[in-house]
Amino acid sequence: MRIAFADLGVPKSGAYVVLTGEGGAMSAPAKEADKALGGAITRAATSLGLKGKVREIVDVPTPSKVSYERLLAVSIGDPAKFDARAAQDMGGAIYSKLSSGGLKQVSVACAAPGKPALGDDALAAEIAFGIQLAAYRFSKYRTKGPDAEPPTLAGVRILTPAHANARRQFGKLDRIADGVFMARDLLEEPPNVLYPESFAKRCEELIKLGVEVDVLDTEQMRKLGMGSLLGVAMGSARPGKLVTMRWRGKKRGPGPLALVGKGVTFDTGGISIKPAGGMEDMKYDMGGAAAVVGAMKAIAGRKAKADVVGVVGLVENMPSDRAQRPGDVVTSMSGQTIEVINTDAEGRLVLADALWYTQKTFKPSAVIDLATLTGAIVVALGGVHGGMYANDDALANDLQAAGEATGETLWRMPLGDDYDKQIASNIADMKNVGGREGGSITAAQFLKRFVMDKTPWAHLDIAGVAWTTKAKPTVPKGGVGFGVRLLDRLVADRFEG
Ligand code: BES
Ligand code: MN
Ligand code: ZN
Repeated sequence: MRIAFADLGVPKSGAYVVLTGEGGAMSAPAKEADKALGGAITRAATSLGLKGKVREIVDVPTPSKVSYERLLAVSIGDPAKFDARAAQDMGGAIYSKLSSGGLKQVSVACAAPGKPALGDDALAAEIAFGIQLAAYRFSKYRTKGPDAEPPTLAGVRILTPAHANARRQFGKLDRIADGVFMARDLLEEPPNVLYPESFAKRCEELIKLGVEVDVLDTEQMRKLGMGSLLGVAMGSARPGKLVTMRWRGKKRGPGPLALVGKGVTFDTGGISIKPAGGMEDMKYDMGGAAAVVGAMKAIAGRKAKADVVGVVGLVENMPSDRAQRPGDVVTSMSGQTIEVINTDAEGRLVLADALWYTQKTFKPSAVIDLATLTGAIVVALGGVHGGMYANDDALANDLQAAGEATGETLWRMPLGDDYDKQIASNIADMKNVGGREGGSITAAQFLKRFVMDKTPWAHLDIAGVAWTTKAKPTVPKGGVGFGVRLLDRLVADRFEG
C-alpha cells in the first residue's frame, strides 16, 4: 500500500475520513465536513442511533458540491483510551471499509476530538501502520477471479499538521510491517514450495539489510553432534538446515539476545502419523522460525542499536523407510540422550539442538525460543494468548509488557520439578513426551533441559496464535506473523542503546 503524509486539508477526490468521538464529539475537520454537507454526519449518526463507540463508522456518499466522493466519520470512542493499539485497529477498520469500495484514494484527517492517549504525530503514524498491516494479501497463486485482482484502493494520504514527525515515525513502523509480511509470506507458502532449503534461501534475503547469514547443512550438523535435530530430518528427502542470522547494531556489550525458532516446514507426525483431516494446517509448523526471521528483518530494517542473533532449525517431518521410529534413542548435541516415544513430538527435538548450538556459539545474554509446539497450548489458551514459560522473571515481565504494547499477548505458564518427572525415560536421559496431562508444560520442561544454568530463557508456545481463521482489524485471515512485533518491541524497549 502506498502511504503518503501531508498537512490537513480537504481532499480533491476519493474518500475522506474524519475522526469523531463519544456522544457526538467532533474533531475540527469533522465539524467542517459536517457543515459543508449540511449536517449530514450528525443526521446520519442520530438516525442510526450511534453512540460514538470506538470504530463506529458513519459512511455518507457525498453530493457533487464537495470535492470528495465519500465521507467517513470514524469514532475514536473515549479519547483517554485511544492509544497506539486502538489507533492501529482504527487504521485496519478504515482499510477494510474502503479497500474494495471502488475508490482509488483515501485521505484520513488525523485530528482527534478531545485529548487522545498519544500525540498527533504518533496517532497519525499508528493509524498508517494499522492500514499497512491490514492491507497484507497473499495472492501469488491466484490466476483468476476477483482475488487475483489488486484491491481498488491504491493509495492512502495521512493528513496531520505533524506530518514531518509522523512520516519519520511511520518509516520505522513500516520496516516492522516488512518483517510481519515476510513472516506471513513464509507461513502462507505451501509446503511443496517452502522446505528447509528454500526457507534458508529466504533467510539469505536479509543479507542485503546487513544481516550476517550462515547456513549449516546435514554434514556440518552431524559433525556438531546434532543427533536430535537430524533424527527428525532423516525421514525426508529434503535435508534439514540450521540458519543463523546476526544483526550487530551494537558493537560493545554483553552477549547478543538470541531468538530461536522451530521451523518444521511440514509436520506429518512422521511414523506417529497424524490423521488426514486438517493435516494441511501443518504447513504453518514453521511459525516460530517465521517469527524469528520476520523479527530479524524488522530489527535490521529499522537499524536497531542492538545485538541480536536469530537461529532457525529447519526440517520436514516425514514418514519413510529412512524415518526415525518410536523407540529410537538419539544423542543430542548437549550429550544428553532422548528416547523418541512419539515422532510427532518433533519440535522439541529440533529445538533441543538449536538451543544448545545457540548458547555454545553465541554466549547470548538471553534466549527466547518460539515454536508452534503443542496442541495442548491451543486447548489451554485458544487463539487469544501465546503461552510463555521462563526461568527468569525480569525477562518474562519484559516480554509480558511487550505483548501488551503490541497486542501479541502472552500468558505465563508454570514450570516445576513435578512436571519434569513426567519425561523420565526407562532407558535414556529423557523421553520426548510426558503424557496427555500438562502437555505444553512437559514440552517446556523438555526444552529447559537444553538451557544452560545461567542463561535467562523464555519459551513461547505459539501453536494457537500463529494462524487465524478469523480476521482481526490488523490481521487478515491466515498467517499472523505473531511474534514479530512482540520481539521487535522487546528489543526496542530492553536491548537497544
Ligand atoms: N506441530 C504440532 C503442534 C501443533 C498443534 C501446532 C496444533 C499447531 C497447531 C506438534 O509437533 C505436535 O504434533 N505436537 C503433539 C505432541 C504430542 C505428540 C505429545 C501434540 O500437541 O499433539
Ligand atoms: Mn508434531
Ligand atoms: Zn510440529
